[in-house]
Amino acid sequence: MHKTVIAATLFMFFAAHALAGEVTYRKDIRPLWEARCAACHGAGSPYLGDFLENQDMYKKLMKGPRMDSYADLIFFVGWPDTGAIMRRLDDGRNTKDGKPGNMYQHLGTNDEERQRNFTLFKAWVGEDAWTHKRWDAKGDMPGVTKEELAKMKVKY
Ligand code: HEC
Repeated sequence: MHKTVIAATLFMFFAAHALAGEVTYRKDIRPLWEARCAACHGAGSPYLGDFLENQDMYKKLMKGPRMDSYADLIFFVGWPDTGAIMRRLDDGRNTKDGKPGNMYQHLGTNDEERQRNFTLFKAWVGEDAWTHKRWDAKGDMPGVTKEELAKMKVKY
């Protein structure tokens, strides 16, 4: 093989690998979350249990459940609120009705920014782990499997 071809192939391999392997909470997700989610999901927001008991009140106050730390955020990826991040942030390409999740709009001020941040969230959770399934089955959607949970990356 020609040297430049080898170099280009190696470069592409490492570039793809860097993007897939290096999305972390500290470097990528935390700053994104602070810019786009903190206003409604920060320390002034209720934990999910409280939120669910008083949903109407909190919705009027524009407060969603609190997710202002790494531990509190992965709660909405893996367990107990399995798939919540994936269902709410989806751009519509993985949903049955083709509609984006209702938090997708908050990912950016324009389409380009929303897509960029969506891609980051997806890479953080894991391309193969982007499931809308819940812990328990609901309607015709089965519950998440242990194999699917094991694919979730959510690197700190
Ligand atoms: C303007 C306020 C606002 C912003 C900004 C916002 N959210 Fe929300 N979010 C809410 C409210 C209010 C709810 C609860 C009502 C509902 O379920 O739609 C909610 C619900 C959610 C849920 C569902 C939690 C559950 O009960 O299962 C997730 C997940 C979520 N938001 C993620 C995000 C992420 C990630 C961002 C940043 C990209 C974000 N939100 C930005 C207000 C906001």
